[in-house]
Amino acid sequence: MAIFLDTSNLQEIENYCRMGILRGVTTNPTILLRDGVRDGIRGIEARAKEIARLIAPWPISVEVTTADPAEMLRQAEMFSSWAENVVVKITIHGPQGELENLGVVHELETQRSVRVNVTAMMSAQQGLLAAMAGATYVSLFCGRVNNMGYDARGEIAKLRQVLDLLALKAQIIAASTREVLNVIEWLEAGAHIVTVTPDLLRGMIVHPYSKETVQQFLRDAARAEAALGEVAG
Ligand code: E4P
Repeated sequence: MAIFLDTSNLQEIENYCRMGILRGVTTNPTILLRDGVRDGIRGIEARAKEIARLIAPWPISVEVTTADPAEMLRQAEMFSSWAENVVVKITIHGPQGELENLGVVHELETQRSVRVNVTAMMSAQQGLLAAMAGATYVSLFCGRVNNMGYDARGEIAKLRQVLDLLALKAQIIAASTREVLNVIEWLEAGAHIVTVTPDLLRGMIVHPYSKETVQQFLRDAARAEAALGEVAG
């Protein structure tokens, strides 16, 4: 069971890396744009290389920026040449439901030594097919599933069961975290990994009652120190 950080913010990655609690990073074009990455592929390359260095040997997922199969293959090979720990994200299908993407995934994994994270999936059946195509990671967008009125835990559990049954290598990444409680509940449901935003990770660590307790201890430690000073004086 592992936690990935869903961000391309270098400071956040560095901070949480130092704590030893991360096992990978996920990004997508929306995250990169939000974190100030510009200048097309050149900008993505610069940021991805920095993240790859910070998180190594753990993986960083970088998504292709095209829906054209030949261009996806080209970009995927280029991205994976940036660093050993780069994993390439490919969406489950094209923007209009085009079916070429799983063929691209299969070719990358079986003939081009590129590790793939199949992304933007909402169901166990999509995850199963991505795993059968050879994907290393299968990303279920669980928060988006919950937003549609379903409970993503059911999809995670079903997918984990068939992956184990068929001895497929793919690891489930539960993504689109929306609430602090998602992390434990999705791991419990069978996800191998949950990718979590930095603010939710902070929310997992900091508890108001822990804060109050820490403040009490520090206050009393200072009082005890002052009292000692008085006795010594
Ligand atoms: C992770 O791999 C995904 O890209 C990310 O969690 C998507 O999150 P969103 O649904 O908040 O866009």
